[in-house]
Formats: sequence, C-alpha cells, structure tokens
Amino acid sequence: MSSPKVALITGISGQDGSYLAELLLNKSYKVFGIIRRSSTPHGKNLEIVKNKPEALAGNLSLIHADLSDASSITKVIKDIEPDEIYNLAAQSHVAISFENPVYTSDINSMGSLRILEAIRLLGLKDKTKFYQASTSELYGDIREVPQNEETPFYPRSPYGVAKLYAYWITKNYRETYNIYACNGILFNHESPRRGETFVTRKITLGLSNICQGLEQCLYLGNLDALRDWGHAKDYVRMQWLMLQQEKAEDFVIASGSQYSVRDFVKLSAEQLGLSIKFEGTGINERAMVTKIRGSDAPFLKVGDVIVRINPNFFRLSEVHSLLGDASKAKRKLGWYPNISIDELCNEMISSDLLRAKKIRLLKDNGLEN
Ligand code: NAP
Ligand code: GDD
Repeated sequence: MSSPKVALITGISGQDGSYLAELLLNKSYKVFGIIRRSSTPHGKNLEIVKNKPEALAGNLSLIHADLSDASSITKVIKDIEPDEIYNLAAQSHVAISFENPVYTSDINSMGSLRILEAIRLLGLKDKTKFYQASTSELYGDIREVPQNEETPFYPRSPYGVAKLYAYWITKNYRETYNIYACNGILFNHESPRRGETFVTRKITLGLSNICQGLEQCLYLGNLDALRDWGHAKDYVRMQWLMLQQEKAEDFVIASGSQYSVRDFVKLSAEQLGLSIKFEGTGINERAMVTKIRGSDAPFLKVGDVIVRINPNFFRLSEVHSLLGDASKAKRKLGWYPNISIDELCNEMISSDLLRAKKIRLLKDNGLEN
C-alpha cells in the first residue's frame, strides 16, 4: 500500500483552510496545519476540523509557526517534507491593509517567498508542489470585463499590491527553478465560516441579530460595489485540483455572476422573510422593512429602518466591480461551481439565525455571558 500524501496548509484556522483541511482529510491525506500562537483559543473553524473522525484518528497535526518567521516556516517544511503546500495564510482584509500596510505587505508577499525559498534551499523542488492563494483584488481598477488569466493587473490596496508580488514570485520560481508552483486567482468566496467583518457575513450576521432583537441597525459602506461571489467549498476543491495536474499553471476561479452589496442585503432579508425598500441616496441611503413573513423576526415591525450607511466603512480606494471568467478552469480541469448564490446566502442565514436564536434564548433566561 502506498503511503498517504502529506499536505501542509498555512492559514488552516481561516475559512478556506478549514474547508480544505476537511477535503484533504476525506482524501486520506496526512494534514499539517500552521497556526499562530494566540492568547485565547482559536475559533470555531479549527474546532470543526479537529473533531472530524480522520483528525481524531491522528491524521491532523497543528504546528505553531508564523509567515513572518522564516526559521519557523523552514523548520516545518524540513521536518515534514510535504508533497503539497497550500499557502492560504494572509492578512486577508482589504480595508485593514490600509491601516496595517507594512505588516500586510510582509505576510502577504514575503510570506510566500519564505515558503518558496524553503522549498528551494531544502532541495524539495522535485517533491513539493506549491499553491499560492492569489486573488481577484489583483485586477483592482479593472482593465476589462470579465477578468481572466490574461487580464492586466491594477491593484488598489496594500493588500492587492502585496498579493501581486506573491503572484509574480510564484510564477518566477516556477520558471526559474522549475518548482511546481501555481496561482489560484480566486474571486470572492463566502460561507458560514467567513470572517465576521467581510461584507456578506456582516450582512447575514447583522440581519439575523436584528431579527432576534440583538441589534437595531446594520451599518454598511459602499452598497454599489459589485462582486462575483461563490461558495468557499467549491473554491477549495479547485485549489486541490490545481495541484493534481501534470504541469503547474495559474487559473481564475469565479462564479461568472455579479451582484451588488445592496443585492446581497435584499437577498439576505428575503431569506429571513423580510421585504425591504431602499430609499435616499449617498450616505443618507437606508433600508426600511415593508413586509414581514414567517416568524423569524418577532422584534421587527413594518417601517423599521434596519440598514444605514456609515462613511467609516468606505474604502480609501475602492475596487468597484469584479467579474471573473473561469472558462480555463472549466475547460482544462472540468471545474464547475455547484453552489448558487441563493444557496450560499441561505446557508449563511440559516447558520447565523440559529446562532442569534440561541443567544436570544440565553438572554431571555438571564444566562447571557
Ligand atoms: P481568512 O479566513 O482571513 O484566513 C486567513 C488565515 O491566515 C487564518 O488562518 C490566519 O490565522 C492566518 N494567518 C494570518 N496571518 C498569519 C501569519 N502571519 N502567519 C501564519 N498564519 C497567518 O482568509 P480566507 O478567506 O480563508 O482566505 C484564504 C486565502 O485566500 C488568503 O490568503 C486570502 O487572502 C486569499 N483569498 C481569499 C478570497 C476570499 O474571498 N475568501 C479570495 C481570494 C483570495 P489566525 O486564525 O491566527 O488569524
Ligand atoms: N468589509 C466590508 N464592510 N465591506 C463593505 C462594507 C462593510 O461594511 N460595506 C460595503 N462594503 C464593500 C467593500 O467596500 C467592498 O467593495 C465589498 O463590500 C466587499 O468587501 P469585503 O467583503 O470586505 O471583501 P473584499 O472584496 O474587499 O475582499 C475579499 O475578497 C478578495 C477577493 O476579491 C477578501 O476575502 C480578500 O482577502 C480577497 O482577496
């Protein structure tokens, strides 16, 4: 019997890292995940993965390291000699990258180089395949619609610029050292495991809380921003597929459909049984409840204003519109997304509503901590 493949995931506690770990464990990989030291326990995503039967059977190991620390990264790679490395770790929040530009740049660009250098210096170039989590943020101020692998890049944030370096250094190590290294240029993808300050999750969590009387109003920034949203589960499948090919190549992964932030608010409200109407313009725009169906919103009444604008959530420089063309992935890898935006939104709302109902119950019984 051949020995199981060994994978190293940086960013295993994040949204994608947790889904990818589950996928690889299901495929009988030995999975090693890099985690950072934290003064409080790591969140829910990691707990889900740790409790999978394959993980409990010893196929998951978590190792403390940090992308800012080359020695820690090199040591992990030396010790486990992975067949595949998925570099998902990043300071992944675009707005925060304006507040922490140097840190973001170090992790998101040099972090990738530190891994590639470890592969090279440890003599693992013929063994270890490398996946880089590239992003549609590279297109930034878009040069064409839709965006594919040939579209020129124009990043608009420290996050995007750092990821541009990582994109090119990945390509460069492929061409210079013949390392199997590839970029997945992924458009936005979401799930119930999405960080709570990204806009889709902020909306599903905020509206669910409002329905259960835990918050009064959701404050957002640019409602006109257009994104190509998919489900993280579909996208991690593609990350794995990209490392199973004969030859390393870069691929765009996208749903091919585009919605505004305002559309996502309406969709989420519908899933909660609320019809809403947007009125006003600019920072005075707001959304009001016009109809309530079902019993998920006992604390709301028609006429309540549940969404307002807070200018603090506008970006210093915005990526207004992203729309991907994943035809290459469809043609060469047979990859198609399985989960629609309606299903995605429904799953996120169901999960956040359940959570809000549990907190409501605790509050009602005076048990809230
Ligand atoms: P995420 O949920 O924010 O997860 C980021 C992960 O990186 C977390 O596990 C985090 O650990 C870890 N991390 C951050 N800084 C680190 C450091 N210095 N050393 C080691 N680990 C560190 O992100 P995601 O949505 O899963 O995205 C995964 C990757 O894909 C990211 O690189 C992101 O930029 C990229 N991407 C995401 C999307 C998307 O729409 N989701 C689209 C395109 C590209 P902690 O738990 O300790 O914070
Ligand atoms: N976060 C946030 N919060 N965004 C808001 C808000 C708000 O209150 N209001 C409006 N938006 C707009 C942002 O201005 C942006 O145009 C859009 O909603 C999406 O924002 P995010 O969900 O924060 O995602 P992102 O597109 O900036 O970045 C995500 O996708 C990239 C791929 O395109 C992240 O996952 C990146 O890591 C990823 O590379």
